[in-house]
Amino acid sequence: MSDPQPSPSAPTLSIPPIHSSPTPSVLLNTGARMPLLGLGTYRLRGPDEILQAVDAALSTGYRSFDTASVYRNEADLGRALRLLLPEHGLSRADVFITSKLGPKDQGSRAREGALRSLELLDLDYIDLYLIHWPGTQGLEVGDKRNPENRAQSWAVLEELHAQGKLRAIGVSNYTPGHMKELLEGCCVTPAVIQVEFHPRLSQGEMRHLCGEKGVCFQAYSSLGTGSLLQDPLVVQIAQGYGLTTAQVLLRWAVQQGVPVLPKSSHPTRVAENGHVFDFELTAEDMERLGGMDCGQKYCWDPSQVA
Ligand SMILES: NC(=O)c1ccc[n+]([C@@H]2O[C@H](COP(=O)([O-])OP(=O)(O)OC[C@H]3O[C@@H](n4cnc5c(N)ncnc54)[C@H](OP(=O)(O)O)[C@@H]3O)[C@@H](O)[C@H]2O)c1
Repeated sequence: MSDPQPSPSAPTLSIPPIHSSPTPSVLLNTGARMPLLGLGTYRLRGPDEILQAVDAALSTGYRSFDTASVYRNEADLGRALRLLLPEHGLSRADVFITSKLGPKDQGSRAREGALRSLELLDLDYIDLYLIHWPGTQGLEVGDKRNPENRAQSWAVLEELHAQGKLRAIGVSNYTPGHMKELLEGCCVTPAVIQVEFHPRLSQGEMRHLCGEKGVCFQAYSSLGTGSLLQDPLVVQIAQGYGLTTAQVLLRWAVQQGVPVLPKSSHPTRVAENGHVFDFELTAEDMERLGGMDCGQKYCWDPSQVA
C-alpha cells in the first residue's frame, strides 16, 4: 500500500511503522513523517547524561530527538547518536532530529546560527529546524525590530531548506498573532509549531489555526515541566488504568494526534514515558483532562513580544 499524500489542511495521523520506527507518526506538509514521540533534551547536560537517555530512548522505540542551540547539548546529542545508532542497528535515516535557532542569532546571524547547529550535531541535514522564540536577544520585547529580525531569520531558513540542509522548517513559542504574520509573508509554509501544551493549557486558537493552514502542532512540557504529575485529577485517572500520571498526560496529547517531547534524565522514566501507544483513554477521561484548561503556562510567555 502506498503512503498517503500530505494533506493540504491538517497533518494526518498515520499508522506505524515509519522507517524502523515502532511509534506512530504524523505526516508533515513537506511529505516527511515526524514521530509522535520524541525525547526532549532541555537540561540534559554532559555527554554521559545524554548518552544514557538516548540509549534508553532508542531501546524503548523513540526515533525523534529535540535539541536547541540554547540547550548547549547539540554536540553531545550528535555524538550520542553516532555512537548508539549502529549499536541499535539503526542509521541516520531512521531518526528525526530537531534543533532550533537561538534568540541571539535571530536576524542577521541566522545563517551562521543554523550552520553552527549542523556543525555541532555533525549532520549533513537537520530534519526540522525551528525559530526558537519570536524575539531577539538583547532587544526589548516591544522593540519593532523583533518582527523584522524574525522575518530575516525565516528567509534564511527558507534558503537552507531549499538547499536540503534543513529538511523541514518551523517556529516555536509564536503566538497566533506572530503565526498569522509569518503565514502572510512566507514563501514556505512552516511545517511545525512547537509550543507548551498540556491539560491546563489547551492552545485552542493556535490549534485551530494550525488545522486550517496544514501546520503540525507539536507539544512541549506535556508534563507541565513536572508540575502536573501530582495533580489530583490526573492521579485519580492514572490509578483507574494502573498507569503513571506521566503516561496519562502524554497519552492525552498523542491520542489527539499531538506529538510530544517528554524529557527525563532517568533512563527508567524515559522508558516509562515511551509506553503510551498500547492503551487508550476513554472519551470521558479525555474530556475530564481537557476540562482542566485554565491558560496556565509553566514556561515562557511570548505574548508581549512585538
Ligand atoms: N521550544 C521551547 O521553547 C521548549 C520549551 C520547553 C521545552 N521544550 C522541549 O520539550 C521538552 C520537554 O519539556 P520540559 O523538559 O520543559 O518538561 P516536561 O517533559 O513536561 O517535564 C520534564 C520534568 O518532568 C520530570 N519527569 C519526566 N518524566 C517523568 C516521569 N515519568 N516521572 C516523574 N517525573 C518525570 C523530569 O525530571 P527528571 O529529568 O529528573 O526525570 C523533568 O523535571 C524539553 O526537554 C525540550 O526538548 C521546548
